Amino acid sequence: MSAAIQPYTLLDDEDCEKRILAAREKLGDRLVMLCHHYQRDEVFAHADFTGDSLKLSRQAASSKADYIVFCGVHFMAEVADILSRPEQISILPDMSAGCSMADMADLQNVQRAWQELSEVLNPDETITPVTYINSAADLKGFCGEHGGIVCTSTNAKHVLEWCFQQREKVLFFPDQHLGRNTGATMDIPLEEMVVWDFDKPLGGLTVEQIQQAKIILWKGFCSVHQMFQPEQIDNFKQKYPETNIIAHPESPFEVCQKSDYIGSTEYIINTIANAEPGSRWLVATELNLVNRLHEQFKHEGKNVHFMSPNVCMCSTMFRIDPQHLAWVLENLVEGNVVNQISVPEDVAEQAKLALDRMLDVSP
Ligand code: 13P
Ligand code: SF4
Repeated sequence: MSAAIQPYTLLDDEDCEKRILAAREKLGDRLVMLCHHYQRDEVFAHADFTGDSLKLSRQAASSKADYIVFCGVHFMAEVADILSRPEQISILPDMSAGCSMADMADLQNVQRAWQELSEVLNPDETITPVTYINSAADLKGFCGEHGGIVCTSTNAKHVLEWCFQQREKVLFFPDQHLGRNTGATMDIPLEEMVVWDFDKPLGGLTVEQIQQAKIILWKGFCSVHQMFQPEQIDNFKQKYPETNIIAHPESPFEVCQKSDYIGSTEYIINTIANAEPGSRWLVATELNLVNRLHEQFKHEGKNVHFMSPNVCMCSTMFRIDPQHLAWVLENLVEGNVVNQISVPEDVAEQAKLALDRMLDVSP
């Protein structure tokens, strides 16, 4: 029988650290720990591999370990399950580590949108569905089934270019900001990127708006990145005019328009790592990552600042703590699998189609 989580919640971080290390020693290369950049330091320190969503997906696909413990959020562990071999086991240390943006699109609403769009045009001939990787597996399955594809913040432009080679329009969910910011880099005018409000009939759009649209954007967003505002850039630049602005593309359009660099978490890290000593950076992405960058590069004289005056932490990523990690690892040592993420086979098959298309077009 598996040990319960409750006693672990009483352990302090130092005890957990020792127990995690001891369990890892016993599990050896039967275990791989993949860790997203937004994880807190006490968890991040145990990673075998760190990365953005694309890098970690590739890592999961190539891993040989029996157990893939994913320190990230639910959709990431689902992708690991879909891309790994059937006998490999994907584990999310805390099942409540979801993604609020991913929850803004569900299969029922997307199917309804597809149905409603078919009253205006034939979606299977004219629209490629694209789901951001921050989405449930059944939405990836929907894309697989309808000739669509998955994207990440790294490859969104390549993916959209691929889409427009297939069909004339794109339905992009759940993140309107990534869709709009990517479309803008391809010179698609704002009026040809309309927002589909899933609470309204026909997405709150007119037939003409749909007919003229290149990209139909789902009305979803990331509550963390939504906090960044263009005024924060203006205020900061008044004090430090020489500042470089770098933003994750989940940030609002107006923030990305004022940014010098836009890209995934991995891109943000690499850009600052390769910057000149003494340079100053205002960063629009999650707080744990920005704090880590600040610590990592201050010795090189680089100044890394967080864009928002408010705390913008991904509270669901934060649910993965040393206590849950110690719990799942000690259970694995005892031969008990807890918190396995297992995508039903029929969904996984279609979702893999969409993920493989993405991996094929990715740089
Ligand atoms: P990256 O793929 O850029 O790491 O983004 C994942 C994410 O959830 C950002 O909010
Ligand atoms: Fe989801 Fe936003 Fe957290 Fe990323 S930062 S996992 S998009 S809630």
